[in-house]
Amino acid sequence: MPAAGPPAAALDPSWVTADPTPLAPDHAQRLAELSALDPALADLYRRGAELLAGAADVAALHERQVALLGRERGIVTRGLAELPSLPVEARKVRGRGLNLIKRWLSEIEAARRLVLERAAETRETIDVTLPGRRPWVGHRHVLGRIRDELLDLFHGLGYSVYESPEVERDEYNFTKLNFPPDHPARDAHDTYFLTDDVLLRTHTSPGWVRAMEERKPPLRLVFPGRVYRAEQVDASHMDQFHQIDGLFVDRNVSMADLKATLNAFARAIYGVEARTRLIPIYFPFVEPGCQMDVECSICGGSGRVAGEGGARRCAVCKGTGWIELLGAGMVHTEVFRAVGYDPEEVTGFAFGMGLERIAMMRYGIPEIRMFLENDVRFLRQF
Ligand code: PHE
Repeated sequence: MPAAGPPAAALDPSWVTADPTPLAPDHAQRLAELSALDPALADLYRRGAELLAGAADVAALHERQVALLGRERGIVTRGLAELPSLPVEARKVRGRGLNLIKRWLSEIEAARRLVLERAAETRETIDVTLPGRRPWVGHRHVLGRIRDELLDLFHGLGYSVYESPEVERDEYNFTKLNFPPDHPARDAHDTYFLTDDVLLRTHTSPGWVRAMEERKPPLRLVFPGRVYRAEQVDASHMDQFHQIDGLFVDRNVSMADLKATLNAFARAIYGVEARTRLIPIYFPFVEPGCQMDVECSICGGSGRVAGEGGARRCAVCKGTGWIELLGAGMVHTEVFRAVGYDPEEVTGFAFGMGLERIAMMRYGIPEIRMFLENDVRFLRQF
């Protein structure tokens, strides 16, 4: 009774063969040993060994190995599966022969595989039809691109760029911006001090003071740059980040001008449909001071997003429907006095925004530290 299961595979007569002796030095002895058991077994071994030795590549080798030793339809495997249906004596002889064949063919297959793999590693043929290796071209960092996009926008509104130092004097970072020495508002701007008087700037606003001391009104300037704070680092806080401040000083500048400018900015960044709001907030260097929020683009301002098993609180705006975008306000009269401008003559507005926050909102980046890690898998997405 034949064993149940699929029929054995067939060996393709067109397959190329080769002498297996280099792979199995005792090939001839093996043939003799098998012939003594049963010439048909010797034939099966010889054919299998020659086919494995003749495999030109790993794919061909695999195909032949499956036909001979494959678990389902391998010829040797099927032969072993049929043993129980044989009379006892025949079963012993065939069983011994087939087990030898199985072991020897496996050895030849492994030896041939090694030869093929070594050859593939050392081969130096030049295939002139292969496409060339594309050189890996880098590009600018996402923050640099956002900065330039914003500078472009403000350039269109008549602003030019003013750069001021990252290592700043206390006077410019704080005092002349109307943070008196013991003012509690300094607490929110803890930073790295080089001396009692010299520190890493906590915002780009000191640039206003330098620009106003240097130039006469009217002024229309933007101040891009890196800023520092001694923050506990987490997903949304780093001890260095980037800001752009803006400053507009002239006669009769009003809060309405500020609002129009900020709305132009928000619509350029978040689309013409973007809704914004100004809410009052304290900064020592502006009066009145405000914060501009933009409607959360993730939840459309509802504060809730659809999720499995019903609506969930929107994680981006924390359920408020609004995202804080920037700080702004009318330049404080004390700041004008500190730089020698006459607050009876001029008025002005200013604003300051964080670039990381804008990029995180726009691209849905969940982690501020990614900007600094320089992992190309992150960088190349922008
Ligand atoms: N300099 C402020 C900060 O870094 C932001 C700001 C700028 C607020 C201009 C009002 C006006 O927090």
